[in-house]
Amino acid sequence: MPQASPPPSQPWSQRFETSLHPAIARFNASIGFDIALIEYDLTGSQAHAKMLAKTGIISAPEADLIVQGLEQIRQDFRQGAFVPGVDDEDVHFAVERRLTELIGEAGKKLHTARSRNDQVGTDLRLYLREQIDQIRGQIRQFQAVLVTLAETHLETLIPGYTHLQRAQPLSLAHHLLAYFDMTQRDWERLGEIRHRVNVSPLGSGALAGTTFPIDRHYSAELLGFEGLYGNSLDGVSDRDFAIEFMGAASLILVHLSRLSEEVILWASEEFGFVTLKDSCATGSSIMPQKKNPDVPELVRGKAGRVFGHLQGLLVMMKGLPLAYNKDLQEDKEALFDGVNTVKACLEATTILLAEGIEFRTARLNSAVAEDFSNATDVADYLAAKDVPFREAYNMVGKVVKRCLAQGKLLKDLSLEEWQALHPKFEADIYDAIAPTQVVAARNSYGGTGFEQVRQAIGRARESLSSSDS
Ligand code: ARG
Repeated sequence: MPQASPPPSQPWSQRFETSLHPAIARFNASIGFDIALIEYDLTGSQAHAKMLAKTGIISAPEADLIVQGLEQIRQDFRQGAFVPGVDDEDVHFAVERRLTELIGEAGKKLHTARSRNDQVGTDLRLYLREQIDQIRGQIRQFQAVLVTLAETHLETLIPGYTHLQRAQPLSLAHHLLAYFDMTQRDWERLGEIRHRVNVSPLGSGALAGTTFPIDRHYSAELLGFEGLYGNSLDGVSDRDFAIEFMGAASLILVHLSRLSEEVILWASEEFGFVTLKDSCATGSSIMPQKKNPDVPELVRGKAGRVFGHLQGLLVMMKGLPLAYNKDLQEDKEALFDGVNTVKACLEATTILLAEGIEFRTARLNSAVAEDFSNATDVADYLAAKDVPFREAYNMVGKVVKRCLAQGKLLKDLSLEEWQALHPKFEADIYDAIAPTQVVAARNSYGGTGFEQVRQAIGRARESLSSSDS
């Protein structure tokens, strides 16, 4: 028995006998999330239409109608007058349908010499290029806050740790600027990746190119791409750029998460290095005394999501035969969520540092005076007087042991006691082991010595003001 012909709900419906099972239609559709690409889809299609007219594939009046119709869709979408539904399958079909409703026959010519495969690749790259620019701007804001804090706290001291054991005292500015340098790499890395995102697949067609005399260079130029994919199969099926981005995003989250972990520790009663301001902390539903560091905890937690997306994209790609496969539709939610998560974490952390946290400077400065984090400096003192470092180190180890047994600090030893330990000790040993001097003395390039940190602040300020490449 002949089947009733299906409603022509999709551009491809004429080929089919029956319409899609509603659950399968929902399963197949990406409109629920790829609507995020609509502005890029419109821009990409406008460039494609102009290229079709330039090469004489469609007429100039047809191209004008298409470009204006797409602009109308942009306005309608922004004003909420165009709301695609699940019947549209994806954003590309939604736009094409709407365009044809708006301008009639000419709208049906837009998809000449193009496939959704090169179209979606174009959209994704335009989207990611813009997101990268925004994220780099956010990194700059975060870094500016770090530098300002570093300037304020050049002379604030903080215990430095290795193995989470007190190691040597630091300038707090030096500690903060470590995050400047980490995020500087993030900023640069995104700039490098941007070049590989910014390559046009448009004109690759479904997989093999097209029979029409298109001008790929022209559409690429209109869209601000720096280059073209040289192989159409690679053009439609490459997602390296998304994976690279997620790798870079993961590293940003590694850095933000490490800072978050430190803030969480610092805010604890045990450390007591910072106080969280009410604007950036929350209370408990049962314990009235509590003030919780939710912001850094969420950043630390969200890092896992981004790492998960990186893994998801890698696994999605590894078994795909050339060229396009529908698996690739799965790139979008990962990419969108990765982008949104990085942006949200950068914003929240920047606010936290700028106005949500107060360093307890008095407590920080006294913390470093109450420990043995100046022990290396005693050894260095003797080594500078020609005592072999290892010998000096062993001697100081014994002194620390004795002080611990007697409940004393190194600064509590009398000059006689010092000199009994080694005749080369003189009265200036007390200066040498005072925390400020311990920090100041580390004047090697990149060290925590105040002079070095002042220079590091200068370098940071310079790179903030000359930032563009
Ligand atoms: N929604 C699809 C995606 O996101 C668009 C490309 C569809 N291409 C195709 N050959 N079915 O990947």
